[in-house]
Amino acid sequence: MKQFTSVLLFGAAVVALVSAAGTEGEISFEYHRYEELRKALVSVWLQCPTISRIYTIGESFEGRELLVLEMSDNPGTHEPGEPEFKYIANMHGNEAVGRELLIYLAQYMCNQYQQGNETIIDLVHTTRIHFMPSMNPDGFEKAASQPGEIKDWFVGRSNAQGVDLNRNFPDLDRIIYINEREGGANNHLLQNMKKAVDENTKLAPETKAVIHWIMDIPFVLSANLHGGDVVANYPYDETRTGSTHEYSSSPDDVMFKSLARAYSMYNPVMSDPNRPPCRKNDDDSSFKDGITNGGAWYSVPGGMQDFNYLSSNCFEITLELSCDKFPNEDSLKTYWEQNRNSLVNYIEQVHRGVKGFVRDLQGNPIFNASVSVEGIEHDMTTAKDGDYWRLLAPGNYKVGASAPGYLTVIKKVAVSYSPATRVDFELESLMERKEEEREELMDWWKMMSETLNF
Ligand SMILES: *[C@@H]1O[C@H](CO)[C@@H](O)[C@H](O)[C@H]1NC(C)=O
Ligand SMILES: *[C@@H]1O[C@H](CO)[C@@H](O)[C@H](O)[C@H]1NC(C)=O
Ligand SMILES: [Zn+2]
Repeated sequence: MKQFTSVLLFGAAVVALVSAAGTEGEISFEYHRYEELRKALVSVWLQCPTISRIYTIGESFEGRELLVLEMSDNPGTHEPGEPEFKYIANMHGNEAVGRELLIYLAQYMCNQYQQGNETIIDLVHTTRIHFMPSMNPDGFEKAASQPGEIKDWFVGRSNAQGVDLNRNFPDLDRIIYINEREGGANNHLLQNMKKAVDENTKLAPETKAVIHWIMDIPFVLSANLHGGDVVANYPYDETRTGSTHEYSSSPDDVMFKSLARAYSMYNPVMSDPNRPPCRKNDDDSSFKDGITNGGAWYSVPGGMQDFNYLSSNCFEITLELSCDKFPNEDSLKTYWEQNRNSLVNYIEQVHRGVKGFVRDLQGNPIFNASVSVEGIEHDMTTAKDGDYWRLLAPGNYKVGASAPGYLTVIKKVAVSYSPATRVDFELESLMERKEEEREELMDWWKMMSETLNF
């Protein structure tokens, strides 16, 4: 009976929430404080329950939930072969535009899906998309509680402990730069170190939660949304020599440029070659076509972007969306219009390169197999179902799949801009190979003895 009542109560709450949200399907271009953010996500879920789900990856220092809205045709499950995408905003609590844009994007995609927009329907059916509007809800509340429309440049940037979350990730760049010189792993540098992460007292709770998230879900592509400038920034963020400005290419430099460009080209302000710097003395000399290498702009150690690439299969770029970090509410609609097509187009980039499955000869998936590309020193690994995604710019490649105990297979692959080329691998285990060789030898021996009659 108790349960029944709560179902009824829940039903009533649903009705109340829907009517509170106003006309269904309209985007309200306003700031959302913590409670309003939660309500906005719930109303998307209520409007589009078959393609969305809300979950939390943990709590902030002050106990606010790190909420995620997921959109997919099968919310809550990783479908074999379906790539996963994420947007994270507001890790600097005072950089508020991205937080709002992700709420609007979720509302927009739900509306368009219901209205039968083929582009959005395709995207939702072929991708598992995760939106985290705020990685630093405590910082945002602090920034938003300042009276008046003009907000301080720094108040609310850090989490409630005073930690800058975009300097708080394990500094894997230092490790990869050593490995480049001396040999060593070129991917998944935090392998088998989850316990060390949990016990590390220097990591903020928000950082820890996101590290687990990155390592638990086979994300392929991501962006983290900031404010204070207007540019799409790609790895590496930390320079090799430690100098303040230095182009710091990753092995996937070509693809990262292409990804950053896929965002900037649909944003008329970001891609405007004549856009003046946000502030008179800003050094934008590394910006070209609305994109910049992170290190060429300024070195950032301990950032989230490079951490994604070096600890997982996920490619992440950093998007700076507005000169003002916390602009007036009445400009939010303009920011949405500038960024809407970019936000959608960037998600679509997850369907580029090469993808497929690595299996054994019996068709069983091989988990944690390596997928490598000749000439690119950064390997991918397969997910639980043997599925993999390898983002690549157009060109001809040699792609190899290997796993301990199996014979490596290498295939020549032609990659166009999109969609991704499907390439499956069947690996023969060394045991099977030995067995085959033994059988061949037996056959030969039998044949010889019959022919020679001994
Ligand atoms: C469908 O969605 C795409 C992607 O956002 C958009 O460019 C297009 O204009 C939409 N189509 C309609 C008919 O609204
Ligand atoms: C994946 O493979 C690597 C290297 O072969 C190994 O160090 C690691 O423990 C494996 N990870 C899992 C989760 O099995
Ligand atoms: Zn920022």
